[in-house]
Amino acid sequence: MPVSRKPYMVGNWKMNKLPAEAVQLAQELRKLLEKEKAVDIGVAPTFLAIPGVVAALKGSVIGVGGQNIHPKDSGAYTGEISAPMLKAAGCGFTIIGHSERRQYFGETDATVNEKLFAALGAGLDVILCIGETLEQREAGRMEEVVRQQLSEGLKDLPLDKTPRVTIAYEPVWAIGTGVTATPQQAQEAHAFIRSVTGKVLQPEVAQAMRIQYGGSVKPNNIKELMDCPDIDGALVGGAALTADGFAKIVKF
Ligand code: PGA
Repeated sequence: MPVSRKPYMVGNWKMNKLPAEAVQLAQELRKLLEKEKAVDIGVAPTFLAIPGVVAALKGSVIGVGGQNIHPKDSGAYTGEISAPMLKAAGCGFTIIGHSERRQYFGETDATVNEKLFAALGAGLDVILCIGETLEQREAGRMEEVVRQQLSEGLKDLPLDKTPRVTIAYEPVWAIGTGVTATPQQAQEAHAFIRSVTGKVLQPEVAQAMRIQYGGSVKPNNIKELMDCPDIDGALVGGAALTADGFAKIVKF
């Protein structure tokens, strides 16, 4: 019997919005999405905006998460934020391994794996991002890259923890560029990711796991992406910065 996976839409606000602006966006989203029960919804504001956004969304259907964590719980790591700190601030999840972290901040599959355990250990759910660059895709290396990100990123993940993990497939060439993968390209990649995840973990686990697509998702392309059998939601950057845009995506 096919497994049904509840759609999961998350807005990654990246380094945007002053804390007061973030609270305002959260309040607007709360109004627009108040009755939305068919989709799981999350937003990931900057660390500074998290307390305000958590307060603005308390008791709503919208969860709040971080965009990154440090793998250690505490210590001499100037400028960093840990998973227990996010949890204490009211977050329910964190993104890890975003391509911008990999590209600009030296994040590797090994650190992504450490962060996975740190987040789960602190009681946070995880959105683990993977995806190939344009150069890798053009060299025909998409499958190899994604396979390695999954086998190293998910390494040693206990099967009972897998319901708390979502994979986000974000082809780097589609992020913030206005170029979306075609539904066919995205579906092919998602089906491949599900089969590799089945080998790294277990086939039934991979069937139940949600795989989000990310990269220039907009209100006008979400429907065709969500029509693909292996796409279970979206990780949205630019289009999540307005309440109207993100609400349209959630209500695809
Ligand atoms: P984008 O970003 O929607 O602006 O392309 C997506 C992401 O990086 O999560």
